[in-house]
Amino acid sequence: MRILVLGGTSFVGRAITADALRGGAEVTLFNRGRTNPGLFPGARHLLGDRDTGDYTALRGGEWDAVVDVSGFWPRQVGQAMAVLGDRVGRYLFVSTQAVYQQGGLAPFSDESAPLRAPLRDAEDLTEATYGRLKVACEQDVTARYGDRSTIVRPGKVAGPHDEDRGLTYWVRRAARGGRIALPARPGQPVQVVDSRDLARLVLRLLQDGRPGAFHAVGPAEPTTLGGLITTCAEVAGSEIEIVPVPPETAPPFFPLVRAEGFWAGQQRDPARARAAGLPATPLAVTAADVLAWDRGRGEPPLDHGFTPEQEARVLAAADAR
Ligand SMILES: NC(=O)c1ccc[n+]([C@@H]2O[C@H](COP(=O)([O-])OP(=O)(O)OC[C@H]3O[C@@H](n4cnc5c(N)ncnc54)[C@H](OP(=O)(O)O)[C@@H]3O)[C@@H](O)[C@H]2O)c1
Repeated sequence: MRILVLGGTSFVGRAITADALRGGAEVTLFNRGRTNPGLFPGARHLLGDRDTGDYTALRGGEWDAVVDVSGFWPRQVGQAMAVLGDRVGRYLFVSTQAVYQQGGLAPFSDESAPLRAPLRDAEDLTEATYGRLKVACEQDVTARYGDRSTIVRPGKVAGPHDEDRGLTYWVRRAARGGRIALPARPGQPVQVVDSRDLARLVLRLLQDGRPGAFHAVGPAEPTTLGGLITTCAEVAGSEIEIVPVPPETAPPFFPLVRAEGFWAGQQRDPARARAAGLPATPLAVTAADVLAWDRGRGEPPLDHGFTPEQEARVLAAADAR
């Protein structure tokens, strides 16, 4: 299978590229050549820039499928579709759970849940615009390619090479042991999906030529943030005590913490994706692999969560109450 990946060298796309190459696909990567240059010598590399609209390198060639991991604005997706036209068999767009209406959704809703209003003219990517821009991207891909379009909506993705606010913070923090400040209720639902499972789903959808939307989310059985931290500690062999602290003591966008009104967003139905081949790697395996990767890279400072000093202050304040 000939697969073109728009992006493919950071985290989510990197897992997809690795899985495709492992499965024997002929992979072409299109990006600016800035993120992890030299990665994937077994792939063909084409340079371009979606910010400036430079798709010149894509003017020739044919692929069975394109995987668009780096499209955030309808403009970018429109330009990619215009240059590729019918030289791609399938257009798979990596979207997000943020496309769904915020609040008011039943837990474990499926892919037919109501979407937010599409947004086409926003320049800035913010919490307010991200999901609505992705809705517009999804609509445009589906309108252009019909049954040859596939939409994958990941929840929070976790795995090696994840430098974002997510599981990496908790894996590292739990491994350090001791009293852990949690600026949320331990019972808050979480639903993380292993990046390798997401990649497997993408490849299966391409191989089987499946149209429509699919949730790439973690297991459906209730998993809580407290349970996730405990699993991370078990994997690391550390002793911990989880100490709930007031959410207002935490910096904004704390890893995996969600305000109570947004809990439903942490509980989506994975049934359709499972039936299409989404694996369910146990959280303990994902956590162990993230721990090994983070230690292997020397645990560089994270720009999210509590620093040890902040956490000590917050715990002392909690004890004084
Ligand atoms: N992480 C999560 O929890 C999560 C959850 C839901 C959805 N998602 C979705 O997953 C996708 C992001 O995954 P990722 O960043 O890990 O993907 P990735 O494909 O591994 O990395 C991003 C790629 O985009 C390329 N890129 C960035 N700017 C570019 C530009 N202007 N022109 C051309 N290429 C460009 C980068 O290479 P260069 O820098 O070399 O150009 C890199 O290869 C997004 O679609 C996001 O909405 C992620």
